[in-house]
Amino acid sequence: MGKDVIIACDFASREATLNFLDKFTGRKPFVKIGMELYYAEGPAIVREIKARGHKIFLDLKLHDIPNTVKKAMNVLSNLDVDITNLHAAGTKNMMKAALEGLTREDGTRPLLIAVTQLTSTDQESMENDLMIKAPIDEVVMHYAQCAAESGLDGIVCSPLEAGKVHDRCGKNFLTITPGVRFADGDVGDQKRVMTPAAAKEIGSDYIVVGRPITAAADPVAAYERCVAEFCD
Ligand code: C5P
Repeated sequence: MGKDVIIACDFASREATLNFLDKFTGRKPFVKIGMELYYAEGPAIVREIKARGHKIFLDLKLHDIPNTVKKAMNVLSNLDVDITNLHAAGTKNMMKAALEGLTREDGTRPLLIAVTQLTSTDQESMENDLMIKAPIDEVVMHYAQCAAESGLDGIVCSPLEAGKVHDRCGKNFLTITPGVRFADGDVGDQKRVMTPAAAKEIGSDYIVVGRPITAAADPVAAYERCVAEFCD
């Protein structure tokens, strides 16, 4: 899979999601399904969107004991998604177990991506709540390296970190980057943002774009603008 734009379908229901996807009559975008939609509609929504011809990033961020994650990943492998993810904080043993569970009998599997420290976690909360004293940038890079050593395919990170992650973990280790905004668009609650063109320049492999597309007056035009800036 090459560089692509993934639309974060942060909708609460099947109806709202399909209304949105119905606007795309030409190219079928790669979509991210998160916890909100998955917990509301269950695996049926994943099958339905897949059957419509979309690639899917199932963003459920698994984190539990290795055996439980392995079994859950085994179930998810039947959904035929293209990318799924977990928390690197579950340790290397958990990440390796997840890969085993995700791999089908014929050896194929979805790409498996790690979340490092959430962008909602800052240095202060990491030190005070998680009792991790190292600088957060080093923690993120260490988690990325643990994910690479466990055989995972990449991490979710800020586009600002994508270059460093490739330097440390190899250019084939994928960086999936949210926090993308158009130069003339609203930033909203994102703090560290980058345009699609800048994310391409710095080496992101996939950008995850939500509101700049989903809340646009013309979502298809906004999507095409992202593709033009990031992929072409
Ligand atoms: O609407 P917006 O473009 O900000 O959406 C970004 C998407 O990426 C949301 O689904 C958000 O949950 C997700 N995300 C993020 N930052 C992370 C990880 C995921 O914004 N560190």
